Amino acid sequence: MAGSAGRDGFHSTAGFILAAAGSAIGLGNIWGFPYQAAEHGGGAFVAVYLFFVIAIGVPVMLAELSLGRATGTSPVGAFLRAAPGTRWWTVGALGVLTGFFILSFYCVLAGWTLGYVGKALTGELTSGLSPEQSRAAFNAMLAGDAMEVGLCALFFLLTIGVVQFGVSKGIERISAVLMPLFFVLMLLLVARSVTLPGAGPGIDYLMSWDPSKITPKVVIAALSQSFFSLSIGMGAMLTYGSYLSKDQPLAFSAVSVAASDTMIALLSGFMIFPAVFAAGAEPAESVGLAFHTMPTIFAELPAGQLFAVAFYVLLVVAALTSAISLLEVVASYFIDERGWSRSRAVWTSGAACFLLSLPSATMDGVMDTMISLTFDYGLPIGALLISLFVGWRMPISKARAEIAGAGASFPLAGVWSFLLRFVVPVAIVVVLVGPHLG
Ligand code: PHE
Repeated sequence: MAGSAGRDGFHSTAGFILAAAGSAIGLGNIWGFPYQAAEHGGGAFVAVYLFFVIAIGVPVMLAELSLGRATGTSPVGAFLRAAPGTRWWTVGALGVLTGFFILSFYCVLAGWTLGYVGKALTGELTSGLSPEQSRAAFNAMLAGDAMEVGLCALFFLLTIGVVQFGVSKGIERISAVLMPLFFVLMLLLVARSVTLPGAGPGIDYLMSWDPSKITPKVVIAALSQSFFSLSIGMGAMLTYGSYLSKDQPLAFSAVSVAASDTMIALLSGFMIFPAVFAAGAEPAESVGLAFHTMPTIFAELPAGQLFAVAFYVLLVVAALTSAISLLEVVASYFIDERGWSRSRAVWTSGAACFLLSLPSATMDGVMDTMISLTFDYGLPIGALLISLFVGWRMPISKARAEIAGAGASFPLAGVWSFLLRFVVPVAIVVVLVGPHLG
């Protein structure tokens, strides 16, 4: 079943798609996308984002999957095998490092979501908090370092607990349980939100757009957000691809994963903004949208506590299936390249990453720096180098043959090659470098 003989791997295409969608669908969709849209002009951001997912995201995801499956190993080894004797392996190393950094702040955020499940269960969130009280409660949690670190540690343990079981018994299995639960909770919450009296302006907020709001800043934010949300640019899809067998369809999988990720990001907007507008609140342009704006809304709803619990459980589930893919990238480096046992690799990298998360959890501004390092540099540079490698070096004919698979075909191969070789690198360079020129 596995990419190379004796290696663990995904048992079915459906299992792989659920796991890869689980990686893509995460806090980036439910927490990140709505607040970034609010910060960057609502519908204008959404329009640019959608363009990037189709023109850049899907081609890069497919490039990662093909490189992963062709080499049957995790990022560093993948480049070593595809281009022996060169320095291309550093692209894989950059990916592992980026994944390590992302995981460190991701687990802090995920710890907050665990804390909010607790607050929702005790009824604290639905006891009629005013916006000021709700904000104060959020800030108090951030100030209480011991609590924050404890929740982050708990989340690390959950993530390690899954990854330790490996790909088919850990990642594939948990995704098959959690992702359907995720979809059900999501639909319940969206249905609740869009049927609230006064929800209309929230829907318009996302759907209507003013082209004059598309500034370079909006374009940069949309590009980084699309990489983060699709889990591309650092080798997570490459690693998952390395666990695929030759008969599993790559193009179909990439399109399914990108489509479900994008649908969930949009649905998150339709879950959050109608509720925000219906409650007469302002769409907060900050990380607090999911944490201090939403509780003021739950308090007003019939059965609000139920919806509050559902919302934060949704966030935890989304975060867990993403965090496991981040840890898998780091751990698989030690397993594939250093010959470590899975449990040694998983516990060592998990513990080291937890240490790196301490500054994000306890020091002001560190999390923002981590986010900016990975969003502004790690992911876009990684995506650029991956597209150049697969587009121009691998060689691309090999990648195309990998995607077509045994006896299958790859109908849009020409379009994909064109996007990957020209559109993706040029667009990334223009977006990254352009604003510095003038
Ligand atoms: N895609 C995940 C999210 O949206 C985050 C992630 C990024 C996961 C990169 C793996 C790799 O939350």
